[in-house]
Parts: sequence; C-alpha cells; structure tokens
Amino acid sequence: MDSDFARHVLAVEEAAAFLRQQVDFAPEVILALGTGLGGVADSLELLHSLPFASIPHFPASTVASHAGNLLLGLLGGRRVAVLQGRQHYYEGYTARQITLPVRVLSQLGPKVMIIANAAGGLNPAMTPGSLMLLADHLNFIPDNPLRGPDHPPWGPRFLDLSAPYDAGLRDKAIIRAAQLGLAHVTAGVYVAIPGPSLETPAETRYLRQCGADAVGMSTVPEVLVARHGGLKVLGISVIANVNDPDNFAPILLDDIIAAARLAAVDLERLVVAVLEEGER
Ligand code: HPA
Repeated sequence: MDSDFARHVLAVEEAAAFLRQQVDFAPEVILALGTGLGGVADSLELLHSLPFASIPHFPASTVASHAGNLLLGLLGGRRVAVLQGRQHYYEGYTARQITLPVRVLSQLGPKVMIIANAAGGLNPAMTPGSLMLLADHLNFIPDNPLRGPDHPPWGPRFLDLSAPYDAGLRDKAIIRAAQLGLAHVTAGVYVAIPGPSLETPAETRYLRQCGADAVGMSTVPEVLVARHGGLKVLGISVIANVNDPDNFAPILLDDIIAAARLAAVDLERLVVAVLEEGER
C-alpha cells in the first residue's frame, strides 16, 4: 500500500476511535455546511461541540467564512453530525484530505448526508438567494478522493454514479419546500471547479453548454466519499449570484456571503423539514 494512503487509513481510524471514545453519539445524518451557511446549526439542540483542531487529523480551515467545528446534536428529531466548515481543493488540500471528516463520520454509521454549498447560478432562470437541489454533478476538480489503493472495507473500487443524489430525498425536499412556501426551489446540475479564481465570461458560457446549472468549488469530493460509504445524499446549492456571460458583473465574496446568509433561513427550514420527515 502506498505510504500516504496507509497514513490516511490510520488517520481515519484514529479520528473515528477518538470520536467513539469522546462521545456516545451515533449520527443518523451528516450535515455538511458551506460558505456563509454555518448558521443552519443555530437551531441544533447541541449535545457536543468539538473544534476541528481538537479532533486528531481533522484539517484546519484556512478560510475566514468557514468555522471549523463538529457539532453533534438533534435537529428535526434526528441525531445529526454537523460539519461546520469545510476544506477546499483551492486551499491546496487534496481531495482525499478534504474528505477526511466525511470519511471519519461515515465510520459511525449514518445513512444520509445532506450537503450544502454556495454556488453561482449559470441557468438564467435562477435568482440570487434561491435554492437548487442537486440532481447530478460534473467533477471538473482534477482530483478524486477515491484515487489510490483499493480499500474494500470503505467501499467499491469502481463507484457507480448512475444516481449520485438520492431521488427520494430530493422529491421529499421539493414537496416540503412547496409546503413551506419557499419560492424558487429548483433541481439542477452542479459543476465543481478547482478555483480559487472565479469564472471568466467564456468559462461561464462553456460550463452552461456542458449542462451545468450552477457552479461552485466544493461538494463533489465529499459526495464521492459519502456515496462510496453507501450513504444517500441530498445536495443543496444556495444560489448566491447568477452569472450572465453576455452581461457579466464582478463576483464579490462579500456579496456571495451576504446572499448565502439571506438564503440560509430558507435552507435551514428546508433541512429541518426534510429531517423531520425522516429517511431511515
Ligand atoms: N462561481 C464559483 N463559485 C461560486 C460562485 C460562482 O459564481 N458563487 C459562489 N460560489
């Protein structure tokens, strides 16, 4: 086995053993939050809060808009492990490093991961502050967390991705969004780019032609690991800005965070509603 991978396996095992020993908590659901979306955790009935820095091998976030905490508690009546803060490929991490927290948590037996991100809209029908449920993705990050030696205890060598996002969870979310009166909840294709630079008008046009409805710099690595571990995935993009290649406006981080915070209220209501309904 290559030694980097052997170290990774050991790191995952040590972190999982640490969590088992520190807390008596078996999460049913992983909730992974992104840029400006950490507030969703405010409504959690908190049982344990662990800074990433206190958990062996969890990487520290280098982005100010991402707090690094693992929160364990109850949300919508379910035992939820919240990853508040995330690592990105653009920070210099490998896809394997980025996904260590999801790999560790998936050792504790959850059945579902709900993952949220802030994204740029490519579909001109979208509006800033709306939500897009991921129906599918394109991975344009030139890395894959499953690359490396085969490790059958974690999942199959050739991961089937015919249905990366669970249709049942997505349908449930669409119905609950309508019942909550949330406007503009659509389903679409997310494309993950490496970043950290944002798209040019020509790249925006290209990504749209590739079939993407929204673009961001995260999520796909975590989804690959969650699917590898057999979890069902619900992905939700908060559409922070909409990029029109023919009338391109600067994309500013402050605007992205402000729009994400606005939509975070809708996101939180939707996540809680989906959790309350249950998916066992
Ligand atoms: N592009 C890439 N990532 C993003 C964007 C965008 O326009 N908005 C929020 N995250």
